[in-house]
Amino acid sequence: MPLALRSLDMTILGLGFLGLAWGKSGLHGYATPNRVATSDEAGKIAYLLDIFAALRRFMPPQFDLRGRDVLELSPGASRGNGVLFLALGARSYHAIDVFDLAGDEDPAFYERLLDCFSEGREADRERARAIARTASTREFGYAVGRDFDISRLAQGRSFDLIVSCAAFEHYDSPAEAIANLTRVARPGSESIHIIDLQTHSRWIRERDPNNIYRYPEAIYRLFRFPGQPNRQRPADYISSFSAEGWSDVRFVPSRTIDPALREASLRGLAAPFAGRDDMSILDGALTARYPGPDGDWGMAS
Ligand SMILES: C[S@@+](CC[C@H](N)C(=O)[O-])C[C@H]1O[C@@H](n2cnc3c(N)ncnc32)[C@H](O)[C@@H]1O
Repeated sequence: MPLALRSLDMTILGLGFLGLAWGKSGLHGYATPNRVATSDEAGKIAYLLDIFAALRRFMPPQFDLRGRDVLELSPGASRGNGVLFLALGARSYHAIDVFDLAGDEDPAFYERLLDCFSEGREADRERARAIARTASTREFGYAVGRDFDISRLAQGRSFDLIVSCAAFEHYDSPAEAIANLTRVARPGSESIHIIDLQTHSRWIRERDPNNIYRYPEAIYRLFRFPGQPNRQRPADYISSFSAEGWSDVRFVPSRTIDPALREASLRGLAAPFAGRDDMSILDGALTARYPGPDGDWGMAS
């Protein structure tokens, strides 16, 4: 099929997917944070171990988790990452979300997750088990607020490491979230955010990963719903973190569009996206460091 025709086809089809996502959100609210069914425990464990490994890959080699306070933004259906951070010696883990998707998670699940994670010192792993058994402690916190007021939801804490996965692309205003998370970042802290930039709707995502970028803002926003991907690109995130005083701000791409789909995927994009040199990036990690007074990681207070 000629590329121009394919692009027109995908634009028309994509409108249907935008409508479906909007309708689904209206009917069910924000219910499925990832593709793993809540009943699929093995899938949930595999997903968490995979995400946790990805977050660790992006930590600077000299960054030691021991004694650190960790904040996860938007953990979705599980605080499993928190248990793993504790098992590696983190002093505390706190999670903040707008939707209460992990509030009723069974603490026994954390034990089974730890059974599948053999790293960390025995004493830290035992401490992680003990903390996770208690529904909510200062060392394993969870706060939900529809206003996503990170400072308020942090409940007086500050952090050495701030992470998220598949979350930033859903924020109404990433710049505001970045300003707010900066208020709870300790000098010398690290930020690692895995961000999925592509179209989220399943069928069309495989065939036209840049589909959401085909529409002018006014049309895209007609289908707005809470959590609709915000279409920010790596350069936008880099500029927002830099504006808040973060240093070493980088976006490391994980996957780019398959060469067989590339030309078709870059054709027919709406004005703010057409011709940008980062439109082949599907996902990746934003990493940044909040400068400390002495230029190193210091010790947790
Ligand atoms: C795709 S889920 C990812 C959840 C989890 N990190 C994971 O990997 O499964 C997106 C997360 O962003 C949160 N979220 C959605 N819309 C949001 C918004 N407008 N503002 C802040 N958080 C939002 C959801 O509650 C959810 O935790």
